[in-house]
Amino acid sequence: MKPISSNMQFMITTFLSLCVLFISLASTRGEIGMSCITLLFKVSDICTIQVTGYMCNLSFHLRSLATPLLHVIFLSCFLLNCAEEEAGFNYVPGSDIGPDRWGVINENWTTCGTGREQSPIDITEERIQEQPDLGRLLQKYQPARAALKNQHTYLEVEWNGNAGSITIDETRYNVIQFHWHSPSEHTINGQRYDLEMHIVHQNIDNETARAVVAVLYAYGHPDPFITKLEPLIRNANNVEEQPIGLVDPREAQGINTTKYYRYMGSLTVPPCTEGVVWTVLDKIRTVSTEQVNLMKQALPEEFKNNSRPLQNIYDRTIGLHQI
Ligand SMILES: *[C@@H]1O[C@H](CO)[C@@H](O)[C@H](O)[C@H]1NC(C)=O
Ligand SMILES: *[C@@H]1O[C@H](CO)[C@@H](O)[C@H](O)[C@H]1NC(C)=O
Ligand SMILES: *[C@@H]1O[C@H](CO)[C@@H](O)[C@H](O)[C@H]1NC(C)=O
Ligand SMILES: *[C@@H]1O[C@H](CO)[C@@H](O)[C@H](O)[C@H]1NC(C)=O
Ligand SMILES: *[C@@H]1O[C@H](CO)[C@@H](O)[C@H](O)[C@H]1NC(C)=O
Repeated sequence: MKPISSNMQFMITTFLSLCVLFISLASTRGEIGMSCITLLFKVSDICTIQVTGYMCNLSFHLRSLATPLLHVIFLSCFLLNCAEEEAGFNYVPGSDIGPDRWGVINENWTTCGTGREQSPIDITEERIQEQPDLGRLLQKYQPARAALKNQHTYLEVEWNGNAGSITIDETRYNVIQFHWHSPSEHTINGQRYDLEMHIVHQNIDNETARAVVAVLYAYGHPDPFITKLEPLIRNANNVEEQPIGLVDPREAQGINTTKYYRYMGSLTVPPCTEGVVWTVLDKIRTVSTEQVNLMKQALPEEFKNNSRPLQNIYDRTIGLHQI
């Protein structure tokens, strides 16, 4: 073994100091802390092969210290529930990061407070205009591999293959993921439902151009699609991401698109980006209370109710399509 050079010593010292800093910040910067540990292992490996010296020995000590330390950090993070810290917002009325304050707590979320085309809204009779030219919903869906992800703000099914697209006004949007909010975010003539699914589509050329199809559910019979996911949902508070296998968007959404509402709105979570083409299906599906409760048990306390309050409609109109 050759003795360690002063250059190398300087690099390792810098690295180790940064490492200690990141490990101590690990509860908020978990991923950096993790990559740091991986690097630490690499450094001590290099040390064994090529060099020796005080810094190298230190890196060994740190390495043996870091592993249990990380466990402690992640465990306490799990127990104290770091989700709120990650999301930076919640749904608790009156909280300093609650829905009324989304627009002021982060410089990138101002649209949540100042936007004039925000979602959700009440789909109210007075604003509805029948629009025969809307046509039926042009969907070209196909089954593709997907995974159930616990995003902590909601449960999400995300495709990692091509599950097809929807075409609105000659613009094609690929289907990306869907997720659930409870109770419903949109209301129809003031009536709030018990669950709402958002099927999120994105334009290939422009990621901020989105089309979301919303499906509302009222308490009643269990939803057959959610029934199939139940074993995974039950496990979702332990496992962040679980493969589902093939998921067909048609099965998730249901086939009845004969009547729907169309309006321009936004994402219903920060950053509340506008330019979202909303399609709210009129057909109300059913879901059992047990199924909704099962979804809620996977979410932190402040996200069990993850329904954004209704937003001002301003001068928007709502198109209605029915055959
Ligand atoms: C590094 O540790 C080895 C044994 O673990 C020891 O023999 C050696 O003196 C140490 N080197 C320095 C520079 O501390
Ligand atoms: C859920 O939160 C919204 C917005 O904070 C509130 O208006 C609503 O009453 C809550 N609903 C339930 C069922 O707790
Ligand atoms: C706002 O977004 C920019 C670019 O993505 C990012 O660098 C910055 O940290 C964000 N600000 C906050 C307060 O999150
Ligand atoms: C992308 O889409 C958004 C929302 O529809 C729109 O505001 C923006 O101008 C588009 N960007 C480009 C480059 O077309
Ligand atoms: C679709 O839903 C509408 C109500 O939105 C209902 O009148 C119609 O019978 C349903 N069609 C099918 C095939 O279930």
